Amino acid sequence: MKKEVRRAIIAGNWKMNMTPSAAKEAIGKTAELTKDMNGCDVILCVPFVDIPAAVEAAKGTNVKIGAQNVHFEKKGAFTGEIAGDMLVECGIEYVIIGHSERRQYFGETDKTVNLRTKAALEAGLKVILCLGEVLEEREAGITSEIVSMQTKLDLAGLSAEDMKNVIIAYEPVWAIGTGLTATPEQAEEVCAIIRNVIAGLYSEEVAEGVTIQYGGSMNEGNAAALLSKVNIDGGLIGGASLVPEKFVQIVEAAQA
Ligand code: PGA
Repeated sequence: MKKEVRRAIIAGNWKMNMTPSAAKEAIGKTAELTKDMNGCDVILCVPFVDIPAAVEAAKGTNVKIGAQNVHFEKKGAFTGEIAGDMLVECGIEYVIIGHSERRQYFGETDKTVNLRTKAALEAGLKVILCLGEVLEEREAGITSEIVSMQTKLDLAGLSAEDMKNVIIAYEPVWAIGTGLTATPEQAEEVCAIIRNVIAGLYSEEVAEGVTIQYGGSMNEGNAAALLSKVNIDGGLIGGASLVPEKFVQIVEAAQA
């Protein structure tokens, strides 16, 4: 399988932005502007409390709604957490796991990312699994080792069948929210490394089938060059996903 047959996926990560009413408006606008763009999947990952309004606003449109995290237990005494079946019952299809902000600010580790990923898959969700090196690691020349290790630890125990529901988002931490973007060549190099690790863990066929997104200050100006790379199958977009007119230009750049 080659890039041409991997459908591009453009996902917005709204982070802690947008009230339910603002979400409704932004999704309506995004849906209207993307209604004839059928060349890629479009997902918006919204804050938990926006989910009902977002799912309602996205009904019958090209836009799919995702969440930004999920807990690894099915239920119980985990104050402030959300379980997979709660998301599924609310109409959620995708969930981001392991975002660098979760790792940096909320103590998320490769172990908890792995547990959350397994729980999400078990609940029937598709996972957007984020990984990537920090600046010190890039400067020390160990990016390849770091992302390879994260890939192995985060996917530990997942079957080839599970991998059909896993999207990897390569997000160099130094590029997130900083306005600094990896060059298309830097991003391609690391996405190829991740695909190669997956080939080693599973098979060439599984690796060729996995969607690998780039994330980190992707915007309407740099998306086309990044998406033209053979191992970059989409984007996970933070800041630029908050403005429908900008986000839609990235969706447009992903039309095959
Ligand atoms: P950014 O965020 O596009 O604002 O850099 C990307 C992300 O955190 O997923």
